[in-house]
Amino acid sequence: MCGIVGMVGADVKIGEVLDALKKLEYRGYDSAGIAYLSAHNTLNYHKKKGRIDELLDLMQETLKEKTQVAIAHTRWATHGEPNDVNAHPHIDCTNKIAVVHNGIIENYSDLRERLIARGHVFVSETDTEVIAHLIEDNYRGDLLEAVRRSIVQLDGAYAVGVIHADEPRRIVVARKGSPLVIGKNERVSMLASDVTPLLSYTRNVIFLEDGELAVLEKGRYRIFDLQGNDVVKTTVHIDWKEADAEKGGYKHYMLKEIMEEPEALRKALADRIKEDRVYFEELEKFKKTLREVNRIMVVACGTSYHAGLVFKYFVEWLSDLDVEVDVASEFRYRNLHVNERTLILAISQSGETADTLQGVRLAKRKEGKVIAVCNVVGSTLTRESDAAVYIRSGPEIGVAATKTYTSQLAVLYLLGLYIISERYGWNKEFGELIYQMRNMPEVIEGTLAHSNQLREVATRYKDYLHFMYIGRGMSVPTAMEGALKLKEISYINATAYQAGELKHGPIALLDEQFPVFAIIPRDRLFYKTKSNVIEAVARNAPVISLATERDEEVGEFSKDVIYVPKVNDLLYPLVMAPYIQLFAYHVSDLKGLDPDKPRNLAKSVTVE
Ligand code: AGP
Repeated sequence: MCGIVGMVGADVKIGEVLDALKKLEYRGYDSAGIAYLSAHNTLNYHKKKGRIDELLDLMQETLKEKTQVAIAHTRWATHGEPNDVNAHPHIDCTNKIAVVHNGIIENYSDLRERLIARGHVFVSETDTEVIAHLIEDNYRGDLLEAVRRSIVQLDGAYAVGVIHADEPRRIVVARKGSPLVIGKNERVSMLASDVTPLLSYTRNVIFLEDGELAVLEKGRYRIFDLQGNDVVKTTVHIDWKEADAEKGGYKHYMLKEIMEEPEALRKALADRIKEDRVYFEELEKFKKTLREVNRIMVVACGTSYHAGLVFKYFVEWLSDLDVEVDVASEFRYRNLHVNERTLILAISQSGETADTLQGVRLAKRKEGKVIAVCNVVGSTLTRESDAAVYIRSGPEIGVAATKTYTSQLAVLYLLGLYIISERYGWNKEFGELIYQMRNMPEVIEGTLAHSNQLREVATRYKDYLHFMYIGRGMSVPTAMEGALKLKEISYINATAYQAGELKHGPIALLDEQFPVFAIIPRDRLFYKTKSNVIEAVARNAPVISLATERDEEVGEFSKDVIYVPKVNDLLYPLVMAPYIQLFAYHVSDLKGLDPDKPRNLAKSVTVE
């Protein structure tokens, strides 16, 4: 979703600000813009529909110019189509105030009418423009005070950065509901929607909370609450390296991130397996709660939801605990039977997904106990949960979740074993699972070495318009994740079904133009799945099977077989994940699409 950056300090180059903005490209956007003060403190701004590169072309002459203060924005259209006028920054009537905003102002129509009645002239269709005029209306020579007076009138979500030509050495920022992080070094102070643009400048950052404002000046900042009181906050150290967020010679981030999976798994597992037992230091204080809860509910979206489904199958198979999994956008509108004995597992790579956050807030109001399973240190979800377990994948820039999915699975397997053993004691059977989990990074490393085979298969299937992914039991989430990956980056209509459901309707779709991607490991449901695949073959559907190595039987009914190493039945979702990701990646690349920036999608979905 929208990304904002801002820089204030000495000798800030316009090109430098746009470079910082580029680090947020992965969040998804359809237009970009920048506002800055010239040497004579006049407000300049440039905005353009399309990629930041197009804005850079437009601004070639200006890129080396220096300024003391600038704010910039990538917009993911909500109110008003993507065009140059609707792009941010938005400017007030006096041409002195510029605003960048991430979020949605729900009462913008009322505010707009009131402001028009007071003589303000609007030029865009956006909700954001009201903020610029509101600040203008409230400005009496103090930008911080004007922003404070204005934001209390806003309903909805916002992270805003504001500059004023009469106060040329400061940026005022405020947050409610949308992520905002600030940081500084001796030369500049910065704001951004997430930490990636800050990494070249500092690793010590501050995450603003809802209801906080800050004034950024060269090399310093002050944080306030809505009453104007100073707020003292601790900095969070981010140990991601700048290079982690770069392509490192790969054609796409997505491919790089798939190839990073073994290393990410090593980090996810590190120090969590000790003497063949599972250990989560961050949950030590939570052990009593884990023993007392009588129900587990998982709340998540997209790929994180699929990871939650794997957790459900795993925990239910190994214990008598019931696990319910819900997509966050549904969870939050149900009549939830959550109480102090409900454990909520909130799974989110970004920790900023609006639906998941709202679900967690609702569950907390009902006294549910929340553990966040998250990748981003200091994200809103981790701050609002009772405990946080990090998956330690490092930055994931590709919009499609890849290494974070495999790391989520690894952590969730261990977490499942941890919860079960806290409640019922350690079971010898877990030893074998732990042994295989330990080896998983090497196993995945070995499978990635065969990624060329996936490209060959993808070449044969890239032009089909439809795909059906099927599986049973623990392979259902793999089928769902495979279909999601394919549709989001290759725009092929891919659906997923429980293999046994085919005959209840979806089989009517199948013919020679409708391939089936079967997730068919040699597990206890193999023969059940096989019958369903054979039913698809009887309707002439070409079948690609993802199967266990040396399983020649699968070759008898499949057009193409992709083999994965043999593992414990419960671990196939993990070992199969890189294959479904690589298949989708190669289809997308072969179709000439950009898998890193799929149309209409955003990496971090911060609106409902
Ligand atoms: C996955 O490839 C997606 N782009 C998307 O479904 C994502 O998993 C979802 O938006 C949830 O994000 P989160 O994990 O950051 O909460």
